[in-house]
Amino acid sequence: MADIRTEGLVKRFGSVVAVDHVDMHVRESSLTAILGPSGCGKTTLLRCIAGLAEPDAGRIFIGGRDVTHVPPHKRDLGFVFQRPAMFPHMTVYQNIAWALELRKWPKRAIRQRVEEMLHLVHMEGLENRTYRELSGGQAQRVVLARALAPEPKLLLLDEPLSQLDAKVRDELKLEIAEIHRRTGCTTLLVTHDQGEALTIADNVLLMHQGRIVQEGSPLELYQRPSTLFSAEFIGTNNLLPGVVIEAGPVALVQLDGMAARVSVQAGSLALSPGMPVWVCVRADDVDVIDEDDAPKYQNVLAATVDRALLTGGTVIVQASAGEAKLRIHAGGSRRFSLLGKEGTKILCGLGNITLLPRAPQEAPRGQAQVEPTSSGAG
Ligand SMILES: Nc1ncnc2c1ncn2[C@@H]1O[C@H](COP(=O)(O)OP(=O)(O)OP(=O)(O)O)[C@@H](O)[C@H]1O
Ligand SMILES: [Mg+2]
Repeated sequence: MADIRTEGLVKRFGSVVAVDHVDMHVRESSLTAILGPSGCGKTTLLRCIAGLAEPDAGRIFIGGRDVTHVPPHKRDLGFVFQRPAMFPHMTVYQNIAWALELRKWPKRAIRQRVEEMLHLVHMEGLENRTYRELSGGQAQRVVLARALAPEPKLLLLDEPLSQLDAKVRDELKLEIAEIHRRTGCTTLLVTHDQGEALTIADNVLLMHQGRIVQEGSPLELYQRPSTLFSAEFIGTNNLLPGVVIEAGPVALVQLDGMAARVSVQAGSLALSPGMPVWVCVRADDVDVIDEDDAPKYQNVLAATVDRALLTGGTVIVQASAGEAKLRIHAGGSRRFSLLGKEGTKILCGLGNITLLPRAPQEAPRGQAQVEPTSSGAG
């Protein structure tokens, strides 16, 4: 297995900088996700690593070897594209055997390897079917098996699940994680779906406008966004404007338009009194609490319910605290009887607050509105 490293990688299309000076490291045998919105450069970055696009600057190393100018078929990698790319005129068996025949494996070795692959992707007994006789999820399993058959050092997956329906996507997502665990093959998964990245990856590279803006474990990314983009892209965050009153290991921040102050572990951000900051707290880190429980929380805000929606087991609440709008994801449908009424006064215990730098005149961010079509908790 091999690691991947890039140094100062740049790829332009005319005036568009699709990949903008990317330095990244994908650890050997890891399952790393490149996560970012549409158009941020994920596919282009993956194509550069695969050798399918020529970078304008920078270098790429696979397993320590400089492969910047090495053709794709000599990079020892498997690639799965966004659209199912099973060869339609061939059977499942022929699809999986294809790359092995190209490499002139002996017939018996090919048969054995294809059988291993069929077992790995749970397709035993279907080897004589063709594309038309398979579901979308099955076809994508064949493509995975075909990519893994020649024992590549590296597996590159570009949105392999995006064409599949939600249920199949969920199943195959866990299967990719299982295949990764069993083969130990360094896997780089491109996705715009945070659920996918956070569920199965052990490391996530968050990409925005051609750059990697944050890297970390799913939990680090979820709990400690280091940029405003991270905070807004992953999960549902409340971003409350405030000003630092006291800097120090535990900082005191005055919230704009509220009497309330919050005290926060400053973390790695260099703070000084008078500095404008965003007080960032996840919708699911806001607890609706009883007065008796208030002393257990370092930071408590009084708020008024504007609106509440029951979505499955979660109640999505929009509340006002001073001039700020708060979004709260309260677990347990039983809470709905309490929170479902407009004008209800509540106490909010804030957990896990992160501070992010704010430009002085930056206007309050609009909180995600509570609408019936809302995508629910996250
Ligand atoms: N062959 C091309 N010619 C011109 N521009 C391109 C080409 N390929 C990509 N781009 C541009 O480069 C930028 C990054 O595109 P890319 O396909 O890498 O994004 P992405 O993150 O994979 O998006 P998506 O999630 O929609 O697949 C976009 O602005 C895109 O329009
Ligand atoms: Mg893409």
